[in-house]
Amino acid sequence: MNTDKKPILSPSLLSADFSNLAGELNALEEAGLTWVHWDVMDGSFVPNITFGTPVIAGCRKKSGLFFDVHLMIEDPDRYLENFVRAGADLLCVHAEACRHLERTLSEISRLGAKPAVALNPHTPLEILEYVLPQLDLVLIMSVNPGFGGQKFIPFSLEKIRRLKSMITARDCKTLIQVDGGVPPDNTRELTECGADVLVSGSAFFAHPPYQKRLETFITAAKD
Ligand code: DX5
Ligand code: ZN
Repeated sequence: MNTDKKPILSPSLLSADFSNLAGELNALEEAGLTWVHWDVMDGSFVPNITFGTPVIAGCRKKSGLFFDVHLMIEDPDRYLENFVRAGADLLCVHAEACRHLERTLSEISRLGAKPAVALNPHTPLEILEYVLPQLDLVLIMSVNPGFGGQKFIPFSLEKIRRLKSMITARDCKTLIQVDGGVPPDNTRELTECGADVLVSGSAFFAHPPYQKRLETFITAAKD
């Protein structure tokens, strides 16, 4: 039970002002955020297209935030080096998009970024069985990927609980990230289930000022 630990909030830029990304990143940093979530979409793995390495590289020069990069792209092996060079601190690949997941994760580590795996709502946790010890983070998708502003899928709570027991049983240091439909009012339940990092897009960026919004998320997790 994650009762005393404060969750990390990683705002998803998908809901930020795309005409002013450097300004948004600066505002996040000033508001006290430490992580930011980049939703990279290729229009094939998910039915939407967002941004790629040139945008991330451009923003890297202007931001000290931890770049948590969520690759919703087919066959991510093709771009691992580019994203690390662009400044990704953590690279999260979808298990459903990797033919040789262990090799992909080892390559991310070799390149110097933190390896992470994302699971779509339907994907069972068992797929992590043999790679869990090499993971810095597992991303539990609590919506079907591709869009912001969707509703949280309730069975994600049980999935987070089961993942937490898998991590504890194996004595791993793997963080649990929850992504999709996370407003402040369910942060307490999520942290109690074992979530360490919460991704929020629409429920965060739609409610400036960001410092106040961050406090709302953090206090709600402890109430
Ligand atoms: C969806 C993305 C999420 C999404 C979260 O494919 O992975 O990060 O942007 O947005 P909200 O918080 O609005 O559900
Ligand atoms: Zn995401």
